[in-house]
Amino acid sequence: MTSPLSLRAMTASDVPEVARIETTAFSTPWSEATFRSLLERSGVELWVAEWGGELAAYAILWRVRDEGELANIAVRGDLRGRGIGSRLLSRMLKVAEDSGVRSLYLEVRESNELAREMYARRGFQEIGVRKGYYEGPREDARVLKKSLEGA
Ligand SMILES: CC(C)(COP(=O)(O)OP(=O)(O)OC[C@H]1O[C@@H](n2cnc3c(N)ncnc32)[C@H](O)[C@@H]1OP(=O)(O)O)[C@@H](O)C(=O)NCCC(=O)NCCS
Repeated sequence: MTSPLSLRAMTASDVPEVARIETTAFSTPWSEATFRSLLERSGVELWVAEWGGELAAYAILWRVRDEGELANIAVRGDLRGRGIGSRLLSRMLKVAEDSGVRSLYLEVRESNELAREMYARRGFQEIGVRKGYYEGPREDARVLKKSLEGA
């Protein structure tokens, strides 16, 4: 049986739906204009997942030399819990590694247990806390790092 999931690079025509998912996933969402400008920038990887041909998720990675940051990853609300986020995360780790990233960082809300566990299972380690980093509601961010060297 073929999987309904496919992963590909984001294009400009994906931006409205990506921005819509963003507003449902984050309390201070990025605008369509932000996604469009990221598509123009070098050193930024924007990926989407399709589920049965529909846009289901996206992820963004930026890199400077051998350091990278996994900026946003979100799955459409009604399609969560089917392994889409996990598969997209695996792809982003591979993309990072292939582009020469050796240290990958991300921030996650303290209360986002599902995401924190997903990252911990992939070998991300907590290296710090940013106090009051998030708004709506105000909350600390855990800063995580994964070393990709030899991974
Ligand atoms: C976090 C998020 C990206 C995960 O995507 P998803 O497609 O729902 O997650 P998956 O179905 O791939 O599950 C991820 C992992 O959690 C586990 N999981 C999923 N639902 C679970 C549940 N209800 N209870 C326990 N574990 C669960 C899966 O087994 C999977 O484990 P794995 O990493 O070992 O494969 C998604 O929930 C989301 O978009 N959340 C809102 C935005 C967000 O918080 N982004 C992260 C910001 S740092």
